[in-house]
Formats: sequence, C-alpha cells, structure tokens
Amino acid sequence: MSRTGTATAPSLRDRLRGQLADLKMPGALEALDDILRRVDGGELAAGEALAQLLGAHITLRNARRLQTAMRSARLPVVKTLGDFDFSFQPSVKREQIESLHTLGFLERKENIVLLGPPGVGKTHLALSLAVATAESGRRVYFTTLADLLHSLEEAQAAGRLTHRLRTLVFPTLMVIDEIGYLPITRTGAMLFFQLMARRYEHASTILTSNKSFEEWGEIFGDEVMAAALVDRLVHHCHIVNICGNSYRLRQHADLARRLHTAPEPADQRKEGRRR
Ligand SMILES: Nc1ncnc2c1ncn2[C@@H]1O[C@H](COP(=O)(O)OP(=O)(O)OP(=O)(O)O)[C@@H](O)[C@H]1O
Ligand SMILES: [Mg+2]
Repeated sequence: MSRTGTATAPSLRDRLRGQLADLKMPGALEALDDILRRVDGGELAAGEALAQLLGAHITLRNARRLQTAMRSARLPVVKTLGDFDFSFQPSVKREQIESLHTLGFLERKENIVLLGPPGVGKTHLALSLAVATAESGRRVYFTTLADLLHSLEEAQAAGRLTHRLRTLVFPTLMVIDEIGYLPITRTGAMLFFQLMARRYEHASTILTSNKSFEEWGEIFGDEVMAAALVDRLVHHCHIVNICGNSYRLRQHADLARRLHTAPEPADQRKEGRRR
C-alpha cells in the first residue's frame, strides 16, 4: 500500500505498457515498473516520474543513435565533454566549449577550427562535438585529412568525384582531423579545396591542426589556394587555440619539457582573426 493510498492499478499499468510499446519507447517501457513502484511508495511525485520516464527514453534513444553513428560516422572512439579535464588545459575556455556543445553552430552553418600542438585535446573535443551531434540525430562524418584525400583521389581516378563530393557535402557535421601532419599532393590540395568550397555556408566542418593558419600555405603547397581556403573557413568560424602541455605526456614532465610541448603561446598572431 502506498503512503498516498493510490497504488497504480494493474489495468493502468498495462495501458501504460501498451502505449509505450505502441510509441516504440523501449527505454521508458523498461523503466516503467520501477518508476511506478517508486510513485506508489511515495518516493516520486508525478512530475518527476514523467521526467524520469521520458529521460529513460531519451537515454536509450541517444545510445542507439550513437551506436549507429559509430559505424556510419566512422567515429574511432567515443569522447565526451564530461571526460575533458579543463583544469589540465587552462587555455581552453569552458564556457566557449560548453556553448559549442549546445550545437547552435550547426544551425548557423559555422565552422570550428581547433589549433594546437600534439596531445592537447584537439581530437578529443572534435569527437565530443561529433558525439553530441550524432546523439541529436544529425548526420556526422569523421575522417583524417589523409584518409579523406585518399578517398577523393580514388573517386577521381574512378570517374566518381562529383558523386563523392556530393556525398561529402551531405553530413550536417564533418570532422577533418590532423591537418598538417602528413604531406599533401597538389591534387589532394585541390580536391580538399573543392570540398570545402562546397560545404562553405552549406554545412559545418570541424578541423583540427597542429599548424597555425600562416603555415597552411606550406601544408597545401600553394599560398594562394591556402589563403582562399582559410578565407572561406574563418568567415563563419569559432577558432579554439589550445596552448598547453600534452595530456599524453602528463606523467612525464621532463620528457614533455625536452620535446618542447609546453610551447610559446601558440598562434598569438591569429588573434586578429578570432571572432
Ligand atoms: N584536458 C583533457 N582531459 C582529459 N583527457 C584529455 C585532455 N586532453 C587530452 N586528453 C586525452 O589525451 C589523449 C590525446 O588527446 P587528443 O588525441 O585529443 O590530442 P590532439 O590534440 O588531437 O593531439 P594530436 O595533434 O597528436 O592528434 C586522448 O586520449 C584524449 O582523450
Ligand atoms: Mg589528434
């Protein structure tokens, strides 16, 4: 008997089960009995019970979306904002990163560029934004620049470039990781430019790089093209400059110092381009 004396009648319980099954809400269905038990026990008020029921549905739905996205978006691993230790990387502004995770940038078709030396969390933050985007039910595609260029060059050789480019314009969010580590051929640079020109003002892209924009001419082997690329990229763009130590080397302070991973404040020169 509940404290309120209104234990859920079996018929009501069955009706709720039927409704949740009809609405295809398996997460809520699974949580129902426990929630009703706590309502009957006077532990949960009606409003809180509803919130928990819907919460159970959303949790399972997001987990399923993420599972699907892990395959279709090619996310290599799941990283979340909750796992990111802001105290380790003071140059990363918590408010800016949290605000980006509300995903307004996707609606506004804005880009994000994460810049900084190795191990400072560029890929981690790009992935956590990709995870949040996938959980919101939007289409995501994750790739390294090297893999992307390989696939574009293959498509070009097979006469399928236009089709491939069209496919890559479609995802609401594209993450292009590791710009600057591997050399790029002139053809690769041209293909990348074509893709970014198509996505410009059409859909958001997150890029990560260990090189400042001033060095992109060198990466792409063409100053003029790199300038045109950066121009499009930064037009509607959040630039996150991370200057700090490598998280990978956090237990090896001496080695970190020897490798100069505690850099001079990276990209101060780009301050003018920040929004
Ligand atoms: N502030 C942090 N809090 C928690 N984990 C972190 C943080 N920064 C980085 N990491 C972890 O450290 C590892 C390296 O980070 P990440 O891959 O994001 O670095 P990166 O900046 O992309 O480096 P690289 O340029 O070498 O690709 C990852 O496992 C990541 O989850
Ligand atoms: Mg990385």
